[in-house]
Amino acid sequence: MATASAGTLAAVSRSIPAYGNISNKGRKLAILGGEPVRKNKSWPRWPYWDENVVDSVVKTTKSRIWCRIQSRSGTVPTFEKEFARLMDTKFCVATGSGTQALHTCVEALGIGAGDEVITSPYTDPGTIASILSARALPVLADLDRESYQLDPADVERRITENTKAIMPVHMMGQPCDMESIMAIAKKHNLKVIEDAAQAHLSEYQGKKLGTIGDLGCFSFQSSKTIACGEGGGIIGNDEELMDKCYTVHNHGTSRAGRTEVAGPKYRMNEFEAAVLLGQLAGVQERFERRNENAAHLTSRLKDVPGIVPQKLYKGTESGSFYLYATTYRKEYFNGANRSKFLKALSAEGVSLSSYIRQGLHKEPWIEHILNSKVYKKMFSEKRLKNYRDQIPCPNCDKVCQEMAMIWASGPLLGTKEDMDDIADAIIKVYRNRDKLNLI
Ligand SMILES: Cc1ncc(COP(=O)(O)O)c(C=O)c1O
Repeated sequence: MATASAGTLAAVSRSIPAYGNISNKGRKLAILGGEPVRKNKSWPRWPYWDENVVDSVVKTTKSRIWCRIQSRSGTVPTFEKEFARLMDTKFCVATGSGTQALHTCVEALGIGAGDEVITSPYTDPGTIASILSARALPVLADLDRESYQLDPADVERRITENTKAIMPVHMMGQPCDMESIMAIAKKHNLKVIEDAAQAHLSEYQGKKLGTIGDLGCFSFQSSKTIACGEGGGIIGNDEELMDKCYTVHNHGTSRAGRTEVAGPKYRMNEFEAAVLLGQLAGVQERFERRNENAAHLTSRLKDVPGIVPQKLYKGTESGSFYLYATTYRKEYFNGANRSKFLKALSAEGVSLSSYIRQGLHKEPWIEHILNSKVYKKMFSEKRLKNYRDQIPCPNCDKVCQEMAMIWASGPLLGTKEDMDDIADAIIKVYRNRDKLNLI
């Protein structure tokens, strides 16, 4: 699929313009004794709170309604209505975490022992924990190296007769190539559970992320752009399916009080919802500010060789910018490894990080699955051998090695000057790339 404007690896061939403003801030790298680009300035802090949040928690405390089943008009049911409205969808079921939301969806769709779900190796462990908790097999497909998202062609290659669903993960809060993923799902009659844990309010082809597949899941863990410490939410338009999600997450007991299925107890508590309700007022404005700042930063970085902002798919209208992510190509920095680049940048007063150290396909749980009695009972020897043979995800390995990102929930709420500091620091390090090997 064609890409939008955030940047592609092709951009590295462009020549770098003269960055006049850098010289004002000193040419010598701060790590080598020069003046840093950014000094004694702080970034907007995260998670966000204001008096609305405090008042909301105090009100809940005093109400003595601390659990959702005590009242139909408590903070959890109210938040569910508000969040569904914000996300342009009919229903929401709030949970205790994003992982719980995803697991609830897997169970509600009837996926379990002997079934397979295809997802990304480049994600939080909660994504695959949700599949393992249902005793299904998480099958990891490789990435598009430039967008860090699932590569739809590799997803299709990994479909077997046991595959029941695809779980695309909208990494950094930007959309996956949903057009291709939905087409594959339709062709093979698969369900789609969107892991939109990082993607609050993001839009693709006129729809909010989380509303494109059968069900969409969010995390409200502290670092996320809507946060309450730990929390999660499922959204959807299919009333029957959403009622099933409610039943599963409520230890298998329906809204009418009948125990219908086996299920865990994943209810959000009233204090978490009070925090969420208290911060909803400014959510849209903060979302827009992050998008404006990200666009400015991307426009400043677009001609810097070797720093390539995340590729966005055609149809991307906005992103949550939970992270602002770029690819670091060391061949454009005199071969200096990423850690030298990050150290030099940090000395300039701007911190980028490497994010996920290695893809989940390289983590030990793969061996646990392959050696587990339960999985050996559920899957044939031939299937498990094939599973082992298909573990490599070389593009994911490259993404892990090349990622240079900013935790953006707070910092991207800064000023245009803050964004210029980020760009200036990167450009300064680029201009001094011949010194990076002295570090
Ligand atoms: C992409 C992704 N999926 C799932 C999760 C799990 O969410 P939670 O930590 O709320 O369980 C996270 C959380 O970081 C995430 O980033």
